[in-house]
Amino acid sequence: MTGQLNLPDFKLETYFSKWEFTAEHHLTASDAESMTTAEILALGTDEDRAAFENLHLGYTPTWGTPAVRHAIADTYTSLVDENILAFAGAGEALFWTMQLFVKPGDHVIVNVPNYQTIESIPIATGVDVEGLPLWTGTGEDLEWTLDLDRFESMIRPETTLVSVNFPNNPTGFVPDHDTWKAFNDLCHSRGIRVISDEVYRGVEIDPSRTIAAAADINPSALTISVTSKAYGLPGLRVGWVASQDRAALASLERAKHYTSICNSAPGEALTVIALTHGSTILEKNRAIVANNDVAVTEFMSNYPDLFDYRSPNGGCVTFPRFLGEEGAAAFCTAAVEESGVFLLPHTVYESALGDVPTDRFRIGIGRTNVPQSLEALGRHLENR
Ligand SMILES: Cc1ncc(COP(=O)(O)O)c(C=O)c1O
Repeated sequence: MTGQLNLPDFKLETYFSKWEFTAEHHLTASDAESMTTAEILALGTDEDRAAFENLHLGYTPTWGTPAVRHAIADTYTSLVDENILAFAGAGEALFWTMQLFVKPGDHVIVNVPNYQTIESIPIATGVDVEGLPLWTGTGEDLEWTLDLDRFESMIRPETTLVSVNFPNNPTGFVPDHDTWKAFNDLCHSRGIRVISDEVYRGVEIDPSRTIAAAADINPSALTISVTSKAYGLPGLRVGWVASQDRAALASLERAKHYTSICNSAPGEALTVIALTHGSTILEKNRAIVANNDVAVTEFMSNYPDLFDYRSPNGGCVTFPRFLGEEGAAAFCTAAVEESGVFLLPHTVYESALGDVPTDRFRIGIGRTNVPQSLEALGRHLENR
């Protein structure tokens, strides 16, 4: 394990801390619509409900309870319970995976823009970290992409790890099936471990865009997921790493003894019920994303001088262009400070590894409040 980590401010989470629970209209949520404990229990059987009421609030196994590992394994095509290690959210899983599998002298590649953990943690360990931009072109010609040639040209003999996130936060980009398979094959054949953050997988508007879990198609990959985003249940705080590489899971399990030790018992118990009925929850959330996408497309098309919106390939966030002359950051600041409409400026995605497009802001389309929040944004624009 590495020594003390000197971590910078987590820009996105710091901005969220300021506005998430104070802004009146949350229009940049990264999680789909949530549910109550009663609604989750109603999905279960009488035995599930009785078991939950009588749940013993002792410690749970560091690996996760047998039941939660089983329910998680069932969400993959080829994995069994022993391929699963539970964590306290995807955040804890990323915190450990991004430092445990690098050693001094290694070269690490991470996608940009990104969820900051995947670059700040390896940078803090002192290894050489390089950003793989997820786009070609600029301005109106910009296309989100996973450019395999560009990626391959970055590979060095000392490249040991690559971390990617699809469906991507914030762009909503998902590579096509062939590119994703070729990426995994290339990495595995070159001895490069893939850390694949798949927290948004499962609510693609077009279900045929759902790519395979890396852990199902790549023997050395570590898939990271959680109940937070596609399932809309972040309050459970149950995440996991799934992998065919059981030795990697065993070293992660030893690392977890230094942080959360184990998950909350109620969180894991409710996760079992939620994942057992996972397809019902994902279909509910997919429909919300699809309806909101229509509403946002229509709203933004009314302001062609201000917005250039494209539907996400997957997930429930996307990163439209803002064309107004004040710029995207000033627009987001004014929207939340003057009208209580919380959007996320491109500045929270600024990377230590290279530029990120500066004409962008993140909008979240997974929650049922989106139409009302768009009305509030419309009122804000009238007074702009
Ligand atoms: C891409 C990505 N990975 C991981 C996380 C962390 O998830 P959790 O809050 O469930 O730990 C987030 C949260 O925003 C995220 O967007």
